[in-house]
Amino acid sequence: MSTEQIPALRLENIVKTFPGVRALDGVSFTVMPGEVHALMGENGAGKSTLMKVLGGIHQPNEGQIFIEEQPTVMNSPLDAKAKGVVFIHQELSLADELPVAENVYLGELPRKSFGRVDWSKLHADTDEILKRLNVGFGPKDLVGDLSIANKQMVEIARALTVDAKAVIFDEPTASLTDAEKSVLFEVIEDLKSRGVGIVYISHRMEEIFRISDRVSVLRDGQYRGTLETADTNEDEVTQLMIGRSLDLSRNVQHGELGAVALEVRNLSCGNLYQDISFQVREGEVVGFYGLVGAGRTEIAETLFGLRDPTAGTILLDGKETTIHSPIDAIGAGISLVPEDRKGQGLVLGMNCRDNMTLPQVDDMTAGPFVSDGAEVAIFDQYRDKLEIKTPGWKQLVGNLSGGNQQKIVIGKWLSMHPRVLIVDEPTRGIDVGSKSEIHKLIRELAGQGYAVIVISSEMPEVLHVSDRIIAMFHGRITRTFTSDEVTEDNLVQAISGITPEQGAA
Ligand SMILES: Nc1ncnc2c1ncn2[C@@H]1O[C@H](COP(=O)(O)OP(=O)(O)OP(=O)(O)O)[C@@H](O)[C@H]1O
Ligand SMILES: [Mg+2]
Repeated sequence: MSTEQIPALRLENIVKTFPGVRALDGVSFTVMPGEVHALMGENGAGKSTLMKVLGGIHQPNEGQIFIEEQPTVMNSPLDAKAKGVVFIHQELSLADELPVAENVYLGELPRKSFGRVDWSKLHADTDEILKRLNVGFGPKDLVGDLSIANKQMVEIARALTVDAKAVIFDEPTASLTDAEKSVLFEVIEDLKSRGVGIVYISHRMEEIFRISDRVSVLRDGQYRGTLETADTNEDEVTQLMIGRSLDLSRNVQHGELGAVALEVRNLSCGNLYQDISFQVREGEVVGFYGLVGAGRTEIAETLFGLRDPTAGTILLDGKETTIHSPIDAIGAGISLVPEDRKGQGLVLGMNCRDNMTLPQVDDMTAGPFVSDGAEVAIFDQYRDKLEIKTPGWKQLVGNLSGGNQQKIVIGKWLSMHPRVLIVDEPTRGIDVGSKSEIHKLIRELAGQGYAVIVISSEMPEVLHVSDRIIAMFHGRITRTFTSDEVTEDNLVQAISGITPEQGAA
């Protein structure tokens, strides 16, 4: 017998078409046991589709799947799981109304005789997996009550219920804190050491270079090549992905600042955040930086009327304003591009145009009547501006790639021409090329006189787009930096609750 290892899985010449789209055009891809194989490519390149073919969600038009060199057909996700391929989705696919344990073992609850569910085993098994993941919730907690990050952990817990040959992670870290990310990477290391093959999809280069052994790149549904991570660099990968290099240097054009558009004085909301005061001027981009859970999203939600503050005042153009609902906020000229696009930003079963142009609040239909043609024109304008990849406006948003869905949300809020635009994690799931386009767009909007708030967990992003950066720690503002005085070091200190004196000591 040969001592050569055989691949954990192999995809050969996979073709997958959708109406108007050739999503995969003859892609081959191999994962060895114990390897972390990163899959990269622009938004819409075909990464998720390739993995959905592997995971039994889509049947390929052509091509063959091999598990340990045995030709295999994946009839359904549960079938794929039974054959050792576990898929952790980019778009969460959990049942909100069910507890954690039922979600972890969805479709395969442990049974006793007469088919009765073995609840004590279910809870004990789930508890063991949750312990391994070091999470702060239990088997009986309702999934709908969990944060997005914790939902992501439930999704990951699902993968650990079987003896997998291969585990696919499709942008798993998008909403995880640094601590949760470290746990995830430990889980991946552990799977690796047990000989499991890992497919890891992410747009975050630093993660790719931290955990992968090889990187394969797709472009427009075609295979572009495979690189050994140790022998390559970000520039080479970017070249392969988008066909050009990117200049990511810090060269933000700061324009003239106008009057104060938004002012917040001593705003508090229970134990979520306290005593928040800041101003945003016309033409200014203010970045909010902090760890996940520092209170940034909650402030944004308050300004958009989704949460009532317990104390403090909000002033727009110098006038005190009360905001109790999104309708109030939109009326006052505040828009929010939410962090959770699936929950708050998009109707997946509706087409691209309607998602972008329909006001997101039901009772806002009283506004001026917009003709179909005008709506298409609005859609076309933002599709071009944001380079949204779709065969046409009639496409259902649920069929777009994850990154392109995010662009639809951004387009929707821009098309309302707000005075104050709040964007929460604007480039989550967006590829490197489009990311720099969206950063440019944010600066352009400021240049046109918008007051912009950018909430981001990515330091390069806040550094790149902001005129000023507000650092938060545990619900409080710890420091405000101008773009001249900010450094990576003092920013890290400010969001960790270290005062400059302590830091220097
Ligand atoms: N069910 C579907 N119906 C129609 N088109 C689809 C469907 N699923 C995917 N597509 C299209 O196939 C192409 C590839 O999409 P895919 O989701 O695989 O991209 P991706 O590489 O995962 O991108 P991202 O980085 O944005 O997640 C896109 O043009 C997308 O719109
Ligand atoms: Mg995808």
